[in-house]
Amino acid sequence: MPTFPAVDPIPLPAPIWLFKLLHIVTLSLHFVAVQMLIGGLLVAIVLSLFRGSPSASVAARALARRLTVVMTFVINMGVPPLLFSQVLYGRALYASSVLIGIYWISIVLILMLLYRMLYRFTELLNEGRTAWPAGLLAWLLAGCVARLFSTNMTLMLRPEVWQQMYSASAMGRFLPPPDPTLTPRWLLMIAGGMFISGLWLIYLSARKTFTSEEQKYLAGLGGKLAAGFGVVYLAAGFWASGVQPAVVKDGLAHDALYHFAGLAGYGWLALVAVAIVFGLAAVFSRLAKGAMATTAILLAVLIEILFVVYRDGVRDLTLLSKGFNVWDRAVATNWSVVGIFLVLFVAAIGVIGWLVSVVARAKKPMEGAA
Ligand code: HEM
Repeated sequence: MPTFPAVDPIPLPAPIWLFKLLHIVTLSLHFVAVQMLIGGLLVAIVLSLFRGSPSASVAARALARRLTVVMTFVINMGVPPLLFSQVLYGRALYASSVLIGIYWISIVLILMLLYRMLYRFTELLNEGRTAWPAGLLAWLLAGCVARLFSTNMTLMLRPEVWQQMYSASAMGRFLPPPDPTLTPRWLLMIAGGMFISGLWLIYLSARKTFTSEEQKYLAGLGGKLAAGFGVVYLAAGFWASGVQPAVVKDGLAHDALYHFAGLAGYGWLALVAVAIVFGLAAVFSRLAKGAMATTAILLAVLIEILFVVYRDGVRDLTLLSKGFNVWDRAVATNWSVVGIFLVLFVAAIGVIGWLVSVVARAKKPMEGAA
């Protein structure tokens, strides 16, 4: 049985369930933002190729102008779950991060270049110039960051390869030996990106800053994307869970929460989403646009929460099969600090909601002519 580093002797200052809850909530928001970035950018790149279509050009610019803002949410909503997972899984996560140290630290540089490329893509689109090379470079960089995250999140579950990797390089110069779960897991996020960006377009189609023709174009395209990639997302989810070890699959099938979140909840919701999105797009003119936009946002968040719960199950069951029980920790709750934290947490979520609403109500429209 592989061994994990010794547990920190200092007890946890809050209940484990609370850390887990906060982790799931914040990681779900990170994933919504990540998928808006990955999917929205790819859609904007493809749309930018149709320069003869005014609606496609408007849609490309509308997405691109928002992506630089989305990127700030990707990063800021990534920090809290990183802190919570370090508290809960530090013994595994620190080890795996060190073992791919050079790649892991390079994420900071890749992010800076990605940010620059996003701005360049938007500038070129605004000037009516060829923008796809800059956009594609940004997308490849984002895909690379996603791949590195998937690499680390799967390596932390494989203590059996750590010794061999450390002997090969203590500097973290090498990537881990092949893992059958890595690619399906990464592709799941990419497919999810296309699905979520479809929902995003549906949300955007309700905005008054677009002409009614542009609104129809956005709703139609969003509906098709969400419907098509909803199915791909679901298939990728089944693939990613199908390649898990038998003990993990067994655990997922017999735990009521994971079973609901995975096969029942996630699958069912994705199918309902496809049906609703198709239906809504088809009867667009007869439905309240606001209701459609709200449905799109709620579906996006709900599906990501179920996905994160299921993914959490994969991690906990894999680690448990290797002797790491995340619930087996000494806890000495400091309720006054927990209380202050929760007040600040709720206030911060409120401030973020306010920031989003300010952007949404901005007088200078984020779309339209260059
Ligand atoms: C372009 C930027 C980014 C992309 C595309 C991205 C993408 C991803 C992906 C694909 C995963 C899931 C990996 C898997 O489980 O297979 C992930 C997980 C995660 N990301 Fe990001 N990410 C980005 C930036 C960040 C940043 C800047 C942070 C933090 C500072 C962050 C924090 C996290 C955390 C904490 C997790 C997983 C935590 C856990 O499982 O406990 N991400 N990200």
